[in-house]
Amino acid sequence: MDLKLAGKRVLVTGGSKGIGLATVRAFLAEGADVVAVSRTKTPELEATGATFIAADLAEPDAPARAVLASGPRLDVLVNNAGGGTMPDGAFDDPLDGDDQAWAYAFGLNLDSAIRTTRAALPALLAARGAVINIGSTAARDPRGGPMPYAAAKAALTAFTRGLAEKYAGAGLRVNVVTPGPTRTDVFESKEGFIAQVADHLGLDHAAVVEAFPRQNGMLVDAIIEPAEIARAIVLLASPTMPSVIGANWIIDGGTLKAA
Ligand SMILES: NC(=O)c1ccc[n+]([C@@H]2O[C@H](COP(=O)([O-])OP(=O)(O)OC[C@H]3O[C@@H](n4cnc5c(N)ncnc54)[C@H](OP(=O)(O)O)[C@@H]3O)[C@@H](O)[C@H]2O)c1
Repeated sequence: MDLKLAGKRVLVTGGSKGIGLATVRAFLAEGADVVAVSRTKTPELEATGATFIAADLAEPDAPARAVLASGPRLDVLVNNAGGGTMPDGAFDDPLDGDDQAWAYAFGLNLDSAIRTTRAALPALLAARGAVINIGSTAARDPRGGPMPYAAAKAALTAFTRGLAEKYAGAGLRVNVVTPGPTRTDVFESKEGFIAQVADHLGLDHAAVVEAFPRQNGMLVDAIIEPAEIARAIVLLASPTMPSVIGANWIIDGGTLKAA
């Protein structure tokens, strides 16, 4: 199947590992020209041959600088950088974190996507391109993550819909992908959210990951591979899907129980 992405210029935030790295690889496999942005360049990203721009997107000026550095032309923006670990002491906080923790979660998961989109908008409109934001099931079921993270992802989902409505007439398609539990550092790293939860509950990290699907209402027996999320992102970016606009593609192994 030709997704007509060959030669398209694609910017993926958080492209150094996890879902972002899988997305970089998937676009490269389609013949796209890919720029990845994150704070650090991993050997795995290096091996892809994608262009790398170092930036801490939680800093207010960084998204505009990164977009400028990526060059004047852009067809596809994937706002993927994000995450929701618990800051020290947040498990004991009634709102899962103080003002600073809430501001950081919104800065990383929402503001960075808004700022990157703002900077990239002229090029995306000129290309009649596509934006894909990466949300989370936590937006719909906040039990799935720290509250500041869940609230920021819910706001990102609303931002996606608003942007889609506003720019559909100009030929820009904006959609959100909502991943459920996905096998990245969130689950696998000793510093990831699931390791934090396991530590907090006094449970074995590997056992929590193993039991996660059946303990959390998934209808499949394994957490999701990043490549599956990436396939949806690439399809949403494809000009062969002109009618998918303002949509929320949920890829969660059946975790969310509403239709
Ligand atoms: N894994 C899941 O179960 C899951 C579920 C639902 C939604 N999601 C969402 O999917 C997206 C990707 O998550 P993932 O699981 O792939 O996480 P990951 O493996 O931890 O990767 C996160 C990526 O974002 C980058 N990043 C983090 N903070 C950044 C910052 N301040 N500035 C620039 N880049 C930054 C990281 O690179 P550096 O650290 O080098 O900066 C990395 O490339 C996130 O938006 C996450 O909320 C994940």
